[in-house]
Amino acid sequence: MAMQNIFDEQEFFEGYKNLRDQEKNANILFEIPALFSLLPDLKGKSVLDLGCGFGEHCIEYVKKGACKVTGIDISEKMLEAARKENSDPKVEYLNMPIEEIDRLSDRFDLVISSLAFHYVEDFEGVVNKIYELMSEGGTFIFSQENPLNTCFSGKFNRWTRDENGNKIYMNLTEYGVEGEKESKWFVDGIKKYHRMFSTIINTLTKAGFIVEKLIEPLPDDELLKRYPEYCDLFHKPDFLIVKVLKK
Ligand SMILES: C[S@@+](CC[C@H](N)C(=O)[O-])C[C@H]1O[C@@H](n2cnc3c(N)ncnc32)[C@H](O)[C@@H]1O
Repeated sequence: MAMQNIFDEQEFFEGYKNLRDQEKNANILFEIPALFSLLPDLKGKSVLDLGCGFGEHCIEYVKKGACKVTGIDISEKMLEAARKENSDPKVEYLNMPIEEIDRLSDRFDLVISSLAFHYVEDFEGVVNKIYELMSEGGTFIFSQENPLNTCFSGKFNRWTRDENGNKIYMNLTEYGVEGEKESKWFVDGIKKYHRMFSTIINTLTKAGFIVEKLIEPLPDDELLKRYPEYCDLFHKPDFLIVKVLKK
């Protein structure tokens, strides 16, 4: 299976880094607070971060008490930044595709992944491998682009707009067509994998996980006052965050 490594392409990497360097972006405002709100007590716990990118989360898990954090990513550019900017004796960064985590020999109390699974084709295979790597009573948390986002390819207009260009409503298309979708994000030809909500949840329960909580973050009144442009999230949440347990 050919795995995409788009974060190692210079033009994409720079576009993505500029976005993440902004003081306020959708990750900082919505995705990270929701993801972190689901964290269990990390004191003395071992953590595996799948698609760790710049390693910013890995360092946070150490600050929250984790005794060991393993961050894996397929992109050497992302890992290079992680090793430079977010190194710690308790953190190990490995260049490894998520699809190959069965090569790891440790067991983990928390497996976590932020915004990487929509790049993974074989979700079922990965979920089964995660289950095997986890300690009894462990937690698995992940965020991904909301399925109402991943269903789009570049073929259709995502929004119907008024004459001033304001978004009026979202045009939902091909939600039921799962699998690879190509779109443009900084560069053409980004491959993401769409799965319906039912597929995501059924895959997790089939592997043996107990679903604890799902979050689709929305702005509150305070945030809307400061960033009114995020009112479009009430039509279509950008993110899905899932927490499941291994009993
Ligand atoms: C959107 S970034 C998120 C980075 C980090 N988790 C964060 O939230 O800041 C997605 C990351 O997943 C990595 N990634 C994508 N597909 C992967 C795969 N199959 N195996 C390992 N890492 C992958 C990318 O290289 C990139 O660093």
